[in-house]
Amino acid sequence: LIGSGGREHAIAEALSRSPAGGELVIAPGNPGTAALGRNVPVSLADVAAIAALAEAEAADLVVVGPEAPLALGLADELAARGIACFGPSRAAAALESSKAFAKATMASLGVPTADYRVCTDFDEAAAFVRAAPWPRVVKASGLASGKGVVLPDSADEAVGALHAMMRGGRLGDAAREVVVEERLEGEELSLMAFCDGSRLALMPGARDHKRLLDGDRGPNTGGMGAYAPACTTELAAEYARLTMEPLVDSMRARGTPFVGVLYAGLIVTPSGPKVLEYNCRFGDPEAQAVLALFAGDLAATMAACAAGDLRKAPPSWKTGAAACVVMAGDGYPERPVGGAVLSGLEPLADGRASVARVLHANTRLEGGRLVSGGGRVLSVVAAGDKLPEAVAAA
Ligand code: AMP
Ligand code: GLY
Repeated sequence: LIGSGGREHAIAEALSRSPAGGELVIAPGNPGTAALGRNVPVSLADVAAIAALAEAEAADLVVVGPEAPLALGLADELAARGIACFGPSRAAAALESSKAFAKATMASLGVPTADYRVCTDFDEAAAFVRAAPWPRVVKASGLASGKGVVLPDSADEAVGALHAMMRGGRLGDAAREVVVEERLEGEELSLMAFCDGSRLALMPGARDHKRLLDGDRGPNTGGMGAYAPACTTELAAEYARLTMEPLVDSMRARGTPFVGVLYAGLIVTPSGPKVLEYNCRFGDPEAQAVLALFAGDLAATMAACAAGDLRKAPPSWKTGAAACVVMAGDGYPERPVGGAVLSGLEPLADGRASVARVLHANTRLEGGRLVSGGGRVLSVVAAGDKLPEAVAAA
């Protein structure tokens, strides 16, 4: 299992419940995953080193948590070594790593999404944003760890954001190309599915809480919490027919089948669901909530996806609801401060002492003490018969 956040701790837990057993190696992992398997240090930017580690460990399956190593070609590197991988090739990961590619693919398939223009020239982008119907959204095309989307209040602010990205070097190469799109209104939904290259199996729809503070106040973040289910299975299936199935078919037809978790970030407008973005991996913190409802054999489902036939081990789900509440360090998201000593977590680690469990997202051991690493530090997860119970327990 590749990665080190709260999402990976949740995946590690679900994998370690697999009846087949086996050994779990987490690279690089965190102090929470150390209780579930063997952490091995590795740089997520060094896909050759990760592939070499998988080969040395004679891995039956590599599960990739974050997008960055996928965009760098980790799945391709593993395929070249004959190692099964749950996670898309670099070409299929472009659905997340290039918003320009995702938009062009949606346009060619008639998938509903915001009207947009892709710009590589600042003057053109600025002229477009001033002339276009208001309001607009400015997005870096490349990977920006959740910092690539600006929701400006005025055309001047939009031009300022474009200038910072295209002339000021904010976000580097990720913002060489930008997408300027229509700003949509509605409830958001994170729809995720296991994909085997030709089929998909939907997970319960989830919703993440984007703003820093209670009551939807404060700046946008990577996600301060999440809950599932956020819609009925019927609605999720209908939205997936519109926004996910055409993508899976098209990626297969291109010869770059999508294997792994396909994530459609939707906004439900009065004229129906529209795609805000695709991701090529589980959402964080959506995974923490959704996997709390997983009732199948995760290792078998992921291996079946990697082998191209999900029907061999389809996922199954518990009834009820799950919620995840993120605990972040001071200063998050602008100037995250770490180094706070964390105590009292042990009895909460496996849910024995409480109905809630604590997953590690950004912690480290320092001289035997657990300290926060800054940013999103812990994910507190609970399930219940009804959502309010799960939220109250978390
Ligand atoms: P993205 O990374 O594209 O999902 O954008 C991050 C967040 O910005 C989304 O979850 C939305 O809250 C918001 N957002 C992105 N695009 C739009 C849009 N076209 N209209 C309204 N809000 C948007
Ligand atoms: N929580 C949103 C994401 O993982 O992209």
